[in-house]
Amino acid sequence: MSKARDRDELTRVGPGTVMGEFMRQYWIPAALGSELKADGDPMRLLLLGEKLVAFRDSAGRVGVMDQRCPHRCASLFLGRNEENGLRCVYHGWKFDTTGACVDMPSVPPEQDFKHKVRAKAYPTAERNGIIWVYMGARQQVPPLPAIEASLLPQSDMVQHLVQRRCNWLQALEGEIDTSHFGFLHMGSVEADELNPEDMLRYTVMNRAPDYHVDDAPWGTTYAAFRPADPGQLYWRVANFLFPFWTQTPAGAFPTHVGARAWVPMDDEHTMFMHLHWKAASPSVPLARADGALPLHLSRVHDYLPNDTGWYGRWRLRADPDNDWHIDREAQRDGRSYTGIGNIHLQDQAITESMGSIADHEWEHLGPSDRMITRTRRRLLQAARAWQADGAVPPGVDDPLLYLRARSGFFLSEAGLDWREAWQRQVAAAARPVGLPQAAE
Ligand code: FES
Ligand SMILES: [Fe+2]
Repeated sequence: MSKARDRDELTRVGPGTVMGEFMRQYWIPAALGSELKADGDPMRLLLLGEKLVAFRDSAGRVGVMDQRCPHRCASLFLGRNEENGLRCVYHGWKFDTTGACVDMPSVPPEQDFKHKVRAKAYPTAERNGIIWVYMGARQQVPPLPAIEASLLPQSDMVQHLVQRRCNWLQALEGEIDTSHFGFLHMGSVEADELNPEDMLRYTVMNRAPDYHVDDAPWGTTYAAFRPADPGQLYWRVANFLFPFWTQTPAGAFPTHVGARAWVPMDDEHTMFMHLHWKAASPSVPLARADGALPLHLSRVHDYLPNDTGWYGRWRLRADPDNDWHIDREAQRDGRSYTGIGNIHLQDQAITESMGSIADHEWEHLGPSDRMITRTRRRLLQAARAWQADGAVPPGVDDPLLYLRARSGFFLSEAGLDWREAWQRQVAAAARPVGLPQAAE
């Protein structure tokens, strides 16, 4: 297979594409429940290249449907959300959240054919403050995935969204690229500036970690290791989970309950959804050895106000049009390696700077990129197997498989096999939502 063909099959997400059809087999986290009010304004929602409209009806149910009215294609975004349905303002046809046409007032009663008309609506689910959409073809929808962080009660969960102006794959790959951490984020930080108890210092003492990569039931895993104190290794374990989730190593393993979705809006825009247990230990140091706040490590997002456009939700103020507010002075004088605001923004700037869809033929992937290479291969194999033979994608029918995926950093005695070291951490980790018997 050519690199160009691989890239196209990995990155294109519209209807009929290899990856697009694969992703449609999964439930997709699409919005926060708080974005839709009962009988409130309909919301434009772009998912996998499809222009949809989302609304919450009078009873609180969420509808997500193609924006085109099935009568004559007027946008249902302009519709009236009233009395348990969305009414097209062109000729007054009204649709409930399942897509059924429940009123056809422009047609004389004896000619009414509303029972023959349906809006193209997708099944939705709402759990712990997140709205999920199923865009696949099954009549009987699959179960929601048991992604641990998404099972936390909403009050125990940090949830936020950020739009990114690039393809979903390069955005996701930024999360499984461990060797950038000591440069992009920590390039101007020296070990002696960090608190001696802070394990993050191992990442700056050795900026070129070795690591293991392997397939996992939920996708792929890497375990990067560096020498720590004598007789010990410092580990950073992270996961890719089908079809577009990551779990990062940035958190102390025992409490690091988190998951991050890279949901394709279309081929060139991605909605990032961050879910995290509020009680988890902070993932970056709160202070340097001298007590000062570490530079550029905050995670506060500076958003533009949301608007109603297709690309109007959860945009950051710093973007490609203003060079992500890069501060060359800070870059020069060592206050920051990049001169770019904070960890999230640094990742955002770098992946957006690759262009809308990174050119895989331009790349030179090396040993430090093995996780990326393997994840691309795993994705392509699974997506092509679905396309060719209908092989059910991993996790679709066995949602509990996700519950076993955990990531984070930890120390172990040197000489221990990495899987053993990791399994010991998994066995001892906090489980705020418990483990169902079937997952044991
Ligand atoms: S186009 Fe929607 S009712 Fe006619
Ligand atoms: Fe990063």
